Amino acid sequence: MTDDVWTAVDRYITDLLVPADPALDGALAASEAAGLPRIAVSPPQGKLLHVLARAQGARNILEIGTLGGYSTIWLARALPTGGRVITLEADPRHAEIARANFRHARLDHVIDLRLGMALDTLPLLATEGIAPFDLIFIDADKENIADYFSWSLRLAEPGSTIIVDNVVRNGAVIDPASTDSMVKGVRHFNQVLAAEPRVCATAIQTVGSKGYDGFAIAYVLE
Ligand code: SAH
Ligand code: DHB
Ligand code: MG
Repeated sequence: MTDDVWTAVDRYITDLLVPADPALDGALAASEAAGLPRIAVSPPQGKLLHVLARAQGARNILEIGTLGGYSTIWLARALPTGGRVITLEADPRHAEIARANFRHARLDHVIDLRLGMALDTLPLLATEGIAPFDLIFIDADKENIADYFSWSLRLAEPGSTIIVDNVVRNGAVIDPASTDSMVKGVRHFNQVLAAEPRVCATAIQTVGSKGYDGFAIAYVLE
């Protein structure tokens, strides 16, 4: 099996289950045109986030790592009336593209983008009284995932779900000698997750148009 097959099957799944959508397709096109890195979740993964948010009945969603807002739009589309997404982004250029994409998707009234380093914004959220979040998607820099997870636990409640992207890194995650700071960050997070008694968690490997990676998913216990 090769990346070519994974990409072809992602195309097949997308053609069947992820219909063309001007807001989502436009967000990707605008991100590409602006030269943003091509690291948004794939279309089937975006729809997975959407399905999980709906299954959760999520009304108050937190995302860490916006990029051009592709995953944000998938999550916002899952909200019931009165729900909202807060999404954290450090790069002003990414934030500008994302905000335009939210306007084009007519979702700017339910998406609150906070510009700044997530480790600066998260303590502010904790004092604002807008928690708990019932779904949290962690998808920013990989070096700080363990800290984002700790903050997420503070900002969640029993019954919340925390999803973490990029926890397999093409299989590099099993290399204890890796010097890659992203792999080291992911490995540290996986250790923290394994030792955390307040959640019931697993990790799932994924292949597709984005190559070979994976998601961790944690359900916050009573
Ligand atoms: N969730 C997006 C992809 C996010 S890519 C999607 O699937 O569509 C990761 C993003 O995290 C980038 O835009 C990057 O600028 C941002 N980022 C990196 N470090 C950050 C930090 N310390 N605080 C907030 N955002 C950060
Ligand atoms: C990378 C991939 C991602 O999905 C992400 O959120 C951040 C970085 C990467 O491959 O560099
Ligand atoms: Mg990612």
